[in-house]
Amino acid sequence: MIKPVEPSTRSDLVSYPIRDIVVEAKKLERSGTKMLYLNIGDPAPYGFKPPKHIIEAVREALADARYTGYAPSEGDPQLREEIAKYEGVEPQDVFVTSGLSEGIDFLFNALVDPGRNILLPLPSYPLYLTKQRLAYGPLEFYNCDENYEPDLDDMRKKITQYTKAILVINPNNPTGKVYSRKTLEGIVNIAGEYGLPIISDDAYEHIVFTEEYVNLRKIAKDVPLVSGNSLSKNYVYPGARVGYLAFHGDKWDGVKAAVQRLCNQRLSVNWEMQRGYLAALRGGLDHVKEFNKTIRQNLDVLMKRVEETEGLQVVRPGGAFYAFIKVESKKWKNDWAFVRELLKHGVVVVPGSASGPVNGVYFRVVFLPSADIINKAFDIISRVV
Ligand SMILES: Cc1ncc(COP(=O)(O)O)c(C=O)c1O
Repeated sequence: MIKPVEPSTRSDLVSYPIRDIVVEAKKLERSGTKMLYLNIGDPAPYGFKPPKHIIEAVREALADARYTGYAPSEGDPQLREEIAKYEGVEPQDVFVTSGLSEGIDFLFNALVDPGRNILLPLPSYPLYLTKQRLAYGPLEFYNCDENYEPDLDDMRKKITQYTKAILVINPNNPTGKVYSRKTLEGIVNIAGEYGLPIISDDAYEHIVFTEEYVNLRKIAKDVPLVSGNSLSKNYVYPGARVGYLAFHGDKWDGVKAAVQRLCNQRLSVNWEMQRGYLAALRGGLDHVKEFNKTIRQNLDVLMKRVEETEGLQVVRPGGAFYAFIKVESKKWKNDWAFVRELLKHGVVVVPGSASGPVNGVYFRVVFLPSADIINKAFDIISRVV
């Protein structure tokens, strides 16, 4: 008899709870529960569209036979040049990837041997946890304080001989926190002291509502820095699947050679979409300003509802489109119990533990949906809490 085909044990290490929750929601939806989705970190389902000049550039590229072959593995030369100008590096320091997700995958492959790790923020974007597990190294996190700023004393304590780099996500997913200059300078000083490079995840660089936003590329001095970015959120075009890694400083030759090999083995990134990214970088940020204005109004509604609900606590996000909300009621065994109860009542959110072993019951919501949907969802959340 032929036995069922066994998956690898390694594949058990892969999880992405943000999408797992959707499977449960869809099941309930099929049996008739109406769902309000506050879980999706994607502007498109909430009616936001990429700006016309980017779509037009993609359309033109689709009609142009020059872009029907494999693109150069490290990226379209003009796009690399434009990114290099933006980042303040040389074109050969830039590698175009299939979304920043692939860039993160390449960084782990190029940097982290088994037993080693990248020091992650807690809470963190879940992909980093999975990649760290797949690297067969210890998951280590630095804590954030009650204001969601990185705790620098804790960061020092968590650095070991196995640490290969420090990750900073600013603005942060899932907290929406925009870090202060003082904190960022502190991180640069620690990295310098321990001789560690910094990975700066800039996926939400332009989605900022605070006065003060500082990008690490401006203050990293001689600390080796790699900036990761993408078309997905900053230009409201996640389906394009284009991102990049930009290496700052002269200490990266070995890693860049490794990333080049990783680029070569997957041949190339969709060329038409790279032309879209080129148009995005040349086209300015007017549409992002509009986008920010709209979601900021949604955020005001969300904040009011959270503040009015007894048993919920949140730190006002300064950027991105997420709020990380604490449930103070002792009623819930854990975040999944709370999130599943909300699901039964038709509200989909992400459990806090998707972002790492946070202490307490948290959930993440997006403020991309309209005020009406946020209000309807909070009518339910405030009853369930
Ligand atoms: C912090 C952060 N980094 C990276 C990514 C990956 O983005 P993409 O692969 O769409 O560029 C995301 C997506 O949600 C994110 O939130």
